[in-house]
Formats: sequence, C-alpha cells, structure tokens
Amino acid sequence: MRLGLGTGSTAAAFVAALGQRVQGGFQVLCVPTSEVTRNQAAQLGIPLSTLDETPELDLTIDGADEIGPGLSLIKGGGAALLREKIVASASREFLVIADHSKIVPVLGRFPLPVEIVSFGARSTIMAIEAIVRRLGLSGPCTVRRRDGATIITDGGNLIVDCALEAIPDPAALASALSFVPGVVEHGFFLGMATRAVVAGRNGIDILFPQSEVRS
Ligand code: A5P
Repeated sequence: MRLGLGTGSTAAAFVAALGQRVQGGFQVLCVPTSEVTRNQAAQLGIPLSTLDETPELDLTIDGADEIGPGLSLIKGGGAALLREKIVASASREFLVIADHSKIVPVLGRFPLPVEIVSFGARSTIMAIEAIVRRLGLSGPCTVRRRDGATIITDGGNLIVDCALEAIPDPAALASALSFVPGVVEHGFFLGMATRAVVAGRNGIDILFPQSEVRS
C-alpha cells in the first residue's frame, strides 16, 4: 500500500503504531506530509518515498483540528496544511483520525489557518481581512508566532490564523481566499475526507461524508 502520513499529535500516534507493524513485517511505502513526520517515520524504519517518486497514493491518514458537517475539515494547527492537502489530494482515500472533541456543528471555533507568502504579508492580510468583512464574518487575522518567533512552514511561508468563531459558509470563504495572490493555501479541507474514525466516550465511530455529525 502507498500511504500518506499526516502531521500532528494524532497522526504521530498512528505513525508510532504503524512503525510497530512495519517492524513486524507489514509492507507499506509512505509519503509524509511534513519534515516532522518524515523524521519520526524514518526513525521507526518505515519505508519512505516522496510525492514526486510516488505521485498516486492509496490512502492518507491524518488528524484534523475540526470536523464539521459532511466531513468538512479545518486543518493546519500544526502548520503543515499545504503538504497535507497536496498529499490528501493525491490519495484515493483520505481517512481522518480524531477524538470526539474535534466534532463541531459549524466550522470556525478553531482559528482557520491560512498559509501566505512572506512577501507583502501585510497587504495579503489586509486582503484576507477585507474578504472576512465582505462575507459578514469578524475576528482577528494574525501571523502565527511561538515563543516570540514567527512560525515558518516547511514551504518557507507564514501562517495567518483567522479567529472567526463560526464560519457558516466555508465554501464561500475558501473560494474567496483562493483568489488572493499572496495566499498559498487555506486550511479548509472540503469534500476531501472519505471517512473519519472518531474516538468517543463509548468507543469508536466511523463517519462518512453523508453521516450525521453530532458534537
Ligand atoms: C497539522 O498541520 C494539522 O492539520 C493537524 O492534522 C491538526 O492540527 C490535528 O493535530 P492534532 O492531532 O495534534 O490535534
């Protein structure tokens, strides 16, 4: 199987479990969605490839920051959304793994990450803020920093977190953002997930895009 490996704490738990299976003889060829995941998988002896060498994948397994109706997602809390989206798009199936806390009735409580190029960042953020206002949304859009330092993605870009609280029409915002020249990619994953495995208080739920998602 040609398998895409996600990024984040949930994906890391999956990669650790996969490493054990590989050590037991399980055969798989993996494409990681970040340098962090690549390093973890390499240390576990998981056979690795790149999307250039292996451009079509059978399955990608990744976490999510929010899972909304129709398995619409917000991702990018780990700043890996661009590679995550490219790898998921190259996969026949995209399986999301999460715990129940990630299920929401409306996306947006988790700030939407938007990856932008650093050139002209201020202008790009103003363009994003104008879109937010035009769509009747509100909330700060701020460059992500940690410990006083600006976060730089694996692609050398910045992340802008848009804390909008509730985004009733994710497709409208996704479409508008994609027209801003400095925006590389946004953290909406719409119509991409084919299945979600969600851990809850009473065990595991398997959700499909047509499933009713209860928070
Ligand atoms: C990484 O960029 C993200 O898309 C992660 O998949 C998402 O943030 C979920 O991470 P956790 O599993 O750590 O919650």
